[in-house]
Amino acid sequence: MRQKLVAGNWKMNGSRASIKGLLDGIKKGIGDVVDSEVAVCPPACYLGEVESQLSGSPIAWGAQNLSTEASGAFTGEIAASMLNDFNCKYVLVGHSERRSLYGEEDATVAKKFAVARAAGLKPVLCIGETLQEREQGVTNEVVARQISAVVALEGIAALAAGVIAYEPVWAIGTGKTASPAQAQEVHAFIRKLLADQDAAVAEKVQILYGGSMNAANAAELLAQPDIDGGLIGGAALKAEDFLTICRAAG
Ligand code: 13P
Repeated sequence: MRQKLVAGNWKMNGSRASIKGLLDGIKKGIGDVVDSEVAVCPPACYLGEVESQLSGSPIAWGAQNLSTEASGAFTGEIAASMLNDFNCKYVLVGHSERRSLYGEEDATVAKKFAVARAAGLKPVLCIGETLQEREQGVTNEVVARQISAVVALEGIAALAAGVIAYEPVWAIGTGKTASPAQAQEVHAFIRKLLADQDAAVAEKVQILYGGSMNAANAAELLAQPDIDGGLIGGAALKAEDFLTICRAAG
């Protein structure tokens, strides 16, 4: 049985004060979430504060992005070793906002996955199709291509060191969630794609769903056999909503 993972991607939101309040709320309510793992990914400048608030709690933390480089003249970038310095467990790679707004291509995302893994971080590989791609009927091809870039660089076994997050771009921040059946269909396709190359990896890898998952729709999505958790944006910014999703994961 794969453990479920519910991760909050706070994106570029929050302040020292709001983050303190949010974490206080999550910590207070987390006691009754027993089986699932819970993590938060704050903006990088708050990682130190998140670390000091969450150390010793059952909640893990991670970053939203990392550099492909180890150190040096890369203004504005953050290295894997720096994330380790703050005891991050996870790092998102290839979030659709990074891909569409900052030009990250499959090869760059694969490199980030490799760099994160080499540093002992757990990369959360974000994949998903745009609305146009879904309407063209190429969803499976798109997610297969995005995964293949990592497999080509790292080999299939490397995926077992990370997590996959299927986030249809048209569902992110739009309030339009994929239906449980739509999401399950793509998750099952991803699982089969991996199984065709390595059955043990396919069985082990957690595949999260992301895209307008909220307190009201989480239970039904998380009940799907190939949905192993959620990557939550907007609803992760309210402690009660986030906790409701965590409880739905079990
Ligand atoms: P929303 O939950 O706000 O749609 O965002 C999903 C997401 O992009 C998580 O990474």
